[in-house]
Amino acid sequence: MAPKSRSYQISATPVTVFGHLLFIAVTTLVIVWLLKFREGLAFESANKLKIFNLHPLLMVIGFILIAGEAIMAYKSTPSRRDIKVQKAVHLTLQTIALGCGIFGIVVIFKFHDETNMPDMVTLHSWLGMIAICLFGLQVQNHIQEQPICHGILLVAYLSSS
Ligand code: HEM
Repeated sequence: MAPKSRSYQISATPVTVFGHLLFIAVTTLVIVWLLKFREGLAFESANKLKIFNLHPLLMVIGFILIAGEAIMAYKSTPSRRDIKVQKAVHLTLQTIALGCGIFGIVVIFKFHDETNMPDMVTLHSWLGMIAICLFGLQVQNHIQEQPICHGILLVAYLSSS
């Protein structure tokens, strides 16, 4: 007699909920760290540390965490039966993450420029630059596959559905 088939599929819900909780915890910790213990945030300031502080903020919350939320969008977007909405939310979040990542790198270049420090001299800087470039290529591929999801069209699509 053939053995009974078993399903090894497990629910992604607990992992997704844990992911959202981690998002809240890390966001809170980074904001408290930067505002309370690292003199705050600014794009223009005589206190250059404030300019530097934008880099970890944008990279951790804007780039890594929002990209994580984009990955979980297929699970956490309420309209579960409409894959187009989920894809649109996913692409919007990935685009925001890419924008934050690029801005975070602009900020650290600005900080180096204003403090007369050299650019791209560490392993961190090269690996970080490669990561952003590969991420950008991936988002661009997505946009080419779904031209309707591009920019303003995407917003129009979301508000009409
Ligand atoms: C995915 C996340 C991150 C990426 C892609 C990234 C990328 C980069 C890049 C490309 C540079 C070079 C800028 C230049 O040479 O002018 C840089 C510099 C720097 N980053 Fe990040 N970064 C990330 C996260 C962080 C975090 C979380 C911190 C600190 C908490 C940090 C601290 C620094 C520091 C101190 C520098 C200047 C020194 C150096 O070039 O290594 N970075 N980062």
